[in-house]
Amino acid sequence: MAEIRLDKLRKDFGTVVAVNDITLTFPEGTVTCLLGPSGCGKTTLMRMIGGLDTPTSGDIYFDSDRVTDLTPSERNIGMVFQYPVVYRGMSAYRNIELPLLEDKSISRTERKARVESVIDTLDLGRSANTDVSKLDNGTRQKVAVARAVARQPRIILFDEPITNVDIASKVQLKRVLKRLVKQHNQTIIYVTHDQTEAMTLADEIALMRDGVIVQRGAPREVYDQPNDRFGGWFLGNPGMNFIEYRVRRDDGNALLTEPLFNKPTRVDGLNGHTEVVLGIRPEHVHVYPTPTQDTVEAKVVRSALVVGGQHLLTLQIGDLTLKAKVQPEDGYDKATTVYVACPIDYVFVFERESGQRLAASVTG
Ligand SMILES: Nc1ncnc2c1ncn2[C@@H]1O[C@H](COP(=O)(O)OP(=O)(O)OP(=O)(O)O)[C@@H](O)[C@H]1O
Ligand SMILES: [Mg+2]
Repeated sequence: MAEIRLDKLRKDFGTVVAVNDITLTFPEGTVTCLLGPSGCGKTTLMRMIGGLDTPTSGDIYFDSDRVTDLTPSERNIGMVFQYPVVYRGMSAYRNIELPLLEDKSISRTERKARVESVIDTLDLGRSANTDVSKLDNGTRQKVAVARAVARQPRIILFDEPITNVDIASKVQLKRVLKRLVKQHNQTIIYVTHDQTEAMTLADEIALMRDGVIVQRGAPREVYDQPNDRFGGWFLGNPGMNFIEYRVRRDDGNALLTEPLFNKPTRVDGLNGHTEVVLGIRPEHVHVYPTPTQDTVEAKVVRSALVVGGQHLLTLQIGDLTLKAKVQPEDGYDKATTVYVACPIDYVFVFERESGQRLAASVTG
């Protein structure tokens, strides 16, 4: 195991800044999911950590060792990529064993024990003696993972390892990877743009955008407390509702009023901003068949069944459109009139220009 530390790490491709002066520590023995949209620089960052790309500037340390100028093999790390890298014409077992044969310090008994242990963890028993050319893509990827893990490197880098396998293998790979990362105490960086994968695998999420890490924390924390609109939008399926809002000033108080609130609701800590954006997650929008003292009237304009058996409602409240996630028993039909409340604890306030979250609290 080792801690990975990046110090102002940067990579330019011509005028494109793929990785923009990132300073960050990946703690020893933790799984960090690097999550972000296509083109934000995830692969470039991983390739520099792995030694496959040379940084434009900055440094990489494993514990206190500066590894910036070391070759990939000198860094002692395992890497798994989008497309399985395996040696065809050899059995799965042989593929996994091969890197261990190169290390003369590993005894035969030890080698056998390590190979059999990863074969077991990854459910590869039935394929162990099969030529990898005859295996499906998902199983081949498991072999690639097994090979990276069996060496017991200090660090393992995964770059979207399940993106290019069929759906059935995806589910299985996800399951075995989860087992694997919980079992081994290696420092793992796992790139994905699939947030559910990130939420289930990660000890920590590092959210990346345009070459920088915009937020980093436990999955729940990043989900529940996004630093900016990007986090609110990118995490969540679908992401947060964002509603441009004008704050009303009354007697020194800042108030949020209609159409979302049926009575003036006080908001503190706006720092003088009057044009803001409110953010609320679809699962926090409460929908009722009859009015209560907190609700406003809305019309269902769309109702769709979504993953997890819930219904995603698109609601119209005056000029405003809002998405709400509800349980199937509350699945309202299109054109139904419903009553909506946005619990103040779940309403976030963002700066309109920068998208940064304001330390504002809606107090009712
Ligand atoms: N070898 C290269 N030459 C020129 N530009 C590159 C090269 N590799 C990456 N880039 C650019 O750097 C930026 C970051 O790319 P990168 O592949 O790291 O993103 P990513 O987050 O891994 O995306 P994806 O999710 O699609 O894999 C992009 O703008 C990309 O076009
Ligand atoms: Mg990539």
